[in-house]
Amino acid sequence: MFTSWRDVVRATTTALVVGLAILAGPRSAAASPSPAVSYTNTLIHQRADPHIVKHTDGWYYFTATVPEYDRIILRRAETIQGLSGAEEVVVWDRDASGTGVGYVWAPELHHIDGKWYVHFALGIRDAFDIRPFVIEGTGANPLTADWVEKGVVRTNWETFSLDATTFVANGTRYLCWAQNDPTTGDSGTSLLLAPMENPWTLRLPAVVISRPEYPWERVGHNVNEGAYVVERNGRLYMPYSAAATDHNYAVGMLSADADADLMDPASWEKASEPLFVSNALTGQWGPGHHTFTVSEDGLSDLIVYHARNYSRVVGEPLNNPDRHTRVQKVYWGADGTPDFGIPVPDGPTPFRFRSHNDETLYTRHGADGGGPVSLHLAADRPVRETQFRVVSPGFAGEGTVSLEAASHPGEFLRDKNGIVELAPQGDQDTTPASASFVQVEGLADGEGVSFALANDRARYIRSRADRLLVVAPVNGAGEAASLATFYTE
Ligand SMILES: *[C@@H]1O[C@H](CO)[C@@H](O)[C@H](O)[C@H]1NC(C)=O
Ligand SMILES: *[C@@H]1O[C@H](CO)[C@@H](O)[C@H](O)[C@H]1NC(C)=O
Repeated sequence: MFTSWRDVVRATTTALVVGLAILAGPRSAAASPSPAVSYTNTLIHQRADPHIVKHTDGWYYFTATVPEYDRIILRRAETIQGLSGAEEVVVWDRDASGTGVGYVWAPELHHIDGKWYVHFALGIRDAFDIRPFVIEGTGANPLTADWVEKGVVRTNWETFSLDATTFVANGTRYLCWAQNDPTTGDSGTSLLLAPMENPWTLRLPAVVISRPEYPWERVGHNVNEGAYVVERNGRLYMPYSAAATDHNYAVGMLSADADADLMDPASWEKASEPLFVSNALTGQWGPGHHTFTVSEDGLSDLIVYHARNYSRVVGEPLNNPDRHTRVQKVYWGADGTPDFGIPVPDGPTPFRFRSHNDETLYTRHGADGGGPVSLHLAADRPVRETQFRVVSPGFAGEGTVSLEAASHPGEFLRDKNGIVELAPQGDQDTTPASASFVQVEGLADGEGVSFALANDRARYIRSRADRLLVVAPVNGAGEAASLATFYTE
């Protein structure tokens, strides 16, 4: 009976780019310290190990590994989404330069003391004989700068080394990279750290701050690589990637107090489980080799990473070009630590809905795919149970929206006898009438949003005292309006 509207929604879902942030207008810092962001994934096709930096000139700059592994490319745009279609410029070409013969991997662009630097891995004498390599660009715009080679970064050992990143902590600039440690007999890579004399010279010896020790770091290959630092709440967070670069690739976490002695490996704490892994439901495989950037308004941290949209890589993963660049919001919890959630489905990025009535609580489902579940207001973790995609138009057409769980694509919020449920689109009680809403300005605060049932606009999604979400009338302002108002994050 509902075949036609289901097909319409299925056909249009990937093309939807309506952001709540846009519909609801700007939000005060008090209402939402980190308002929702709206991007459409995939961001950039066939670009792996992506790095996006927002420079002081207001532009976003992008670099990444290309499938041919032979050159350094840059793009720039005034918005993150704008990088998708931005012109790509080659600033260094291995074959044209005559330096090195092997792989060119994982470039990062940094602006240090008035000049641009790209740190990347280069195969010096053969494909896998890779070393950290640096080029320096002079000029305001790195796409048109004059680039010169500063050469190989010397480390403790002449061994396989890659994925350099640089950051400043307590006034000291450091380089962190992945390298085979010949003292262990392990064929894999560990993470090393050393302070820098200048952007291409280390103050040695470097120290090992992490080795691939857990089983999930040792699938296919024994790997720690692709580290990148973000500082928050007095702590340095250094997520890194582990295991083979197929669907086993995953992001683990190192962290240290920002004022600790970072060259003491004991200052670094390592999480025993990965934080960001493949997700069969969202169709994202081998997520990792991330970096961080900030949203256009400067209020949200974003994780930029690559993943494939299928799990079975035929042949050597290195020869597979389908690692695409993706971006999504990082959520910092009440305890001050980040939660990357799950790699979200392709298409528009999801939002979270925080209650106006109790700003510590979020609209949350506990779905495990076993059938319809009711929704509650609940604590902010886990993030994956609190992310929803606003699909517009909704099942009931223009002017309506339907709300899809990011972690369970194809499952939508619906009104079932006055209770808000998450249920599959194909379920008989999921109809245009039960699963379509009208999004309006927040009843208690215009900077928030409220959702009326599309075919009975006197009834709104609201919470009860017991935190269950219901679809019920809202009489007047005051508490009822507060219970029906949500801030998007
Ligand atoms: C931080 O920097 C100050 C000033 O250079 C220095 O005295 C202090 O030892 C540094 N702290 C650590 C933990 O390295
Ligand atoms: C993966 O993405 C490509 C487009 O980049 C698309 O054609 C293909 O259908 C997607 N595959 C899956 C399994 O979603």
